Amino acid sequence: MDTARRFYVTTPIYYVNDEPHIGHTYTTIVADALARYHRLIGDEVYFLTGTDEHGQKMQRAAEQRRISPQQLADQVVENYQRLWPALGISYDDFIRTTEARHRRGVYALFEKIRRETPDALYKGTYRGLYCTGCEAFFAPGQVTDGVCPEQGHPVEEVEEESWFFRLSAFGDRLLELYDTRPEFVLPVTRRNEVRGFVAEGLKDLSISRSRSQVSWGLPFPGDEQHVVYVWFDALTNYISALGYGQDGAAPLYARYWGEAAGQLHLIGKDILRFHAVYWPAFLMAAREPVPTSVFAHGWWLRDEAKMSKTRGNVVKPWPLLEDFGADALRWFLLREISLGLDGSYSDEALIERTNADLSNNIGNLFSRVLALVARHEAGTVPAAEPLVDEELGEAIEQARDRYRSGFDRHDPGSALRALTEWADAVNRYLVRKEPWRREGREQSCARVLRTACEQLAQLALRLHPAMPQGASRLWSSLGLGEDPAAEARPGQDLLDARRWPVAGSSVRAGERVFPRLDKKKLLGEAAATGSDEPTAGGAAETETEETGMIDIDTFQQIDLRTAKVVACEPHPDATKLLRLEVDLGTEKRQLVAGIATAYTPEQLVGRTIVVVANLKPAKLRGLLSEGMLLAASGPDGRPLLLSVDGDLPPGSKVS
Ligand code: ME8
Ligand code: MG
Repeated sequence: MDTARRFYVTTPIYYVNDEPHIGHTYTTIVADALARYHRLIGDEVYFLTGTDEHGQKMQRAAEQRRISPQQLADQVVENYQRLWPALGISYDDFIRTTEARHRRGVYALFEKIRRETPDALYKGTYRGLYCTGCEAFFAPGQVTDGVCPEQGHPVEEVEEESWFFRLSAFGDRLLELYDTRPEFVLPVTRRNEVRGFVAEGLKDLSISRSRSQVSWGLPFPGDEQHVVYVWFDALTNYISALGYGQDGAAPLYARYWGEAAGQLHLIGKDILRFHAVYWPAFLMAAREPVPTSVFAHGWWLRDEAKMSKTRGNVVKPWPLLEDFGADALRWFLLREISLGLDGSYSDEALIERTNADLSNNIGNLFSRVLALVARHEAGTVPAAEPLVDEELGEAIEQARDRYRSGFDRHDPGSALRALTEWADAVNRYLVRKEPWRREGREQSCARVLRTACEQLAQLALRLHPAMPQGASRLWSSLGLGEDPAAEARPGQDLLDARRWPVAGSSVRAGERVFPRLDKKKLLGEAAATGSDEPTAGGAAETETEETGMIDIDTFQQIDLRTAKVVACEPHPDATKLLRLEVDLGTEKRQLVAGIATAYTPEQLVGRTIVVVANLKPAKLRGLLSEGMLLAASGPDGRPLLLSVDGDLPPGSKVS
């Protein structure tokens, strides 16, 4: 019996006037994560991406390089087709608008429109402005200073004979669509935007360009003096790739378009109007079903501006892949922002995010548990009965729900946050249960480790949509095989299983699946000053990971000393910080400390405090802090200083 749901997910088809940047990478990674998630929960998935190869923008880019548009397309498309596999993108089809199958789809849609709504197309004259950057028409009233209102590209005046689509006749039906199917435009702020735009009244849309102006496009059906407007051409890819317009049956179209499936067009907010207004209107005119949802995500910005090929302020994915790897890049892009919001790209943010989430949190949890299994259980996950206490049980249930609802709302960012919280909960569980204190409690330690390993399997499985490569490495370190998604089948929800049969599998300990990214090495000395906490090195580190304990040698690496505050004042640029001068006996140091909410400078001068004397200097809001003072957090969160009992000369060793 076929009970699987069907999920059709698409990316925009990208212009091949230039190489992909991080924005295109983002949409495609999000689409991939959604596709992989839906495969895990047992949906039948079809994932489409591709390239948009016609139009004036392509024609001009090719002229500049003195090659034909087709040559340019053939060259640039390779950049996409090489990049996606390197990023682990699991698309089912890649469509190019210069392919014959696509052309057939476009002509079939025209024909169907002419048949079903004969007065939808008419010939007239277009007078107005054209933006080649957006490939879009604008009325003079929409344009100020000669640039387009959407993205600030230069516009040109155009007056030419043109074919029109009677968009003005579709306003009411579009409004009804937005009102009866609120999930048609997501997120909701975008729906309101689109609704407002349509409610103001729609003008008819020019859907051809005169061949004398633009020759690089599909000949307009029945009128060779014109070429098909590139957006009509491009939008049709979503059905031409499913075989729409092919001779004979189009089984994919029947399977994935219309009621038989859920469709999701994932796009950036730059191209919302084309997808949420024009595209459903074309389909309505042809009496073809409209898609389930158009989700418009936000922009990745660089220096406050949207990155764009036209503007040239772009971050390219290849160097990032080489420096950070696909796992880190995917995790960062997916986790850093909630789908729909804008994000600001920086290498530093990527390093900090992935070190915190992957290396310190999830990776560390894996090494810790697997080291314990290696040492105490001869490397085999014990078959003892799992032991989930109430606190862990609750945390797991919450994280499960939040992961699922995040992905179901098409928001990988919140789904992935649930996974780091899940890992936190398992870490706390280990601290509570102390499976390294073995004496007389071997049996309960075995149960704790079995429980922890099951949680690791649940985590690795759920990491697969975000990081197929990293999740595979985690899966195989648990001895479970090569690929957590190997068992994915339509109709079978892998995320339903409460338990994972890990008992008896042989784990591999001692490898770091997510090595820490070294900020200093990757960004250069200057960028890294004092910003990243150092980690204990060598043998001590392995011990720490296993038990959460450090030995006395590690502790003694920290040089704690008494110091006398000789001067103190507020930090000039930060209300919570104070600048202190302390006497360390042998030298004077400057410290910057976040204790201004608890102490005034006057209360501090003359006091003897405890400081970490060998901490790497770090700049805090522009002032160098050459050490750190010790304070405990009071019940209201205010920091209370540690002091010593009795009189001690400054510089006395604390141990
Ligand atoms: O518009 N931040 O192609 P395109 C986030 N061919 N996403 C971004 C981005 C940024 N700074 N810049 C681009 C076209 N994108 C048409 C589409 S579809 C029928 C035709 C992503 O190469 C985002 O998905 O300009 C955006 O919608 C898309 O790339 C535009 O790519
Ligand atoms: Mg663009």
